[in-house]
Amino acid sequence: MKYFKVGGQDVPAIGLGTYLIKGEEAVKTIEQAIDIGYRHIDTAQLYENEAEVGTAIQQSSVDRSDIFLTTKVWPTRISEEDFIPSVEDSLRKLKTDYVDLLLIHWPNKDIPLRESIKELIKAQEQGKAKHIGVSNFPINELARSIGAGANIVCNQVEYHPYIDQSLLKSWMDHNNILMTAYCPLAQGRVIQDRSIQKIAEEHGKTTAQIVLRWFMEQENTLAIPKSSNIDRLKANLEIFDFKLSTEQINVINELAKPSQRFVRSSIEPEWD
Ligand SMILES: NC(=O)c1ccc[n+]([C@@H]2O[C@H](COP(=O)([O-])OP(=O)(O)OC[C@H]3O[C@@H](n4cnc5c(N)ncnc54)[C@H](OP(=O)(O)O)[C@@H]3O)[C@@H](O)[C@H]2O)c1
Repeated sequence: MKYFKVGGQDVPAIGLGTYLIKGEEAVKTIEQAIDIGYRHIDTAQLYENEAEVGTAIQQSSVDRSDIFLTTKVWPTRISEEDFIPSVEDSLRKLKTDYVDLLLIHWPNKDIPLRESIKELIKAQEQGKAKHIGVSNFPINELARSIGAGANIVCNQVEYHPYIDQSLLKSWMDHNNILMTAYCPLAQGRVIQDRSIQKIAEEHGKTTAQIVLRWFMEQENTLAIPKSSNIDRLKANLEIFDFKLSTEQINVINELAKPSQRFVRSSIEPEWD
């Protein structure tokens, strides 16, 4: 595994995405994932599985302190009135008194950013979050968040071989902010990609492994692939015994022309 240091804490560069995994399946999948070595788990209020994530961590043989746990506050709950109670609600469900990383899930044009950031900082000061960050924030909102006094360590955004995030990435690298790639497999679309299949054959790996390795070749970049299949969960960790050549990396980089975004939302900001 590759790790990044955040405030002295090791953050595994591959985490487990949990969107759309619910109920008993969520408990089972997350327990299995922890069993085979996942130590970084990504959830959100939106996913309606925080309780299952909490149960799986509690039932696992691994200490809570050895897991890097992220949750996200939904944008309708980021006002001064709602923010802290919503985090308390998440922590109750997660059966823990802190998360390692607390993110604002999307910016909300109807609530002043300064107000939400103040609450995010408050959650950290109260010990409810070790680290704080954002998700789906373009440069403008990121800069304003930092300007409002937050130590933003991470921005979780859509990132895969079909989307060009170079502008945002270089700004974030310059400001020492980690990029966590969500939908790293483009929701499964990369699996059938002919160019990536060719590279996969050259390494005796799968297309998913090639793409996850491509993230690991980049600085300050984490990825949180989701799988509810034990074999694929394992495979997604088996990416540290080979490297991509510069030529292979360039082939994958070219796939983002034209840049394609698959997560669209009525609340999305103006992207960079
Ligand atoms: N911050 C945000 O706004 C935001 C938005 C979207 C997602 N996210 C986070 O990012 C995580 C990942 O995104 P995502 O779940 O949308 O998409 P993804 O991880 O890009 O792709 C998941 C799909 O790929 C398949 N898959 C996984 N590993 C595979 C492998 N080795 N070989 C073949 N297929 C494989 C999965 O199927 P199986 O399960 O059948 O293996 C699933 O259909 C989410 O779960 C969530 O935690 C955050």
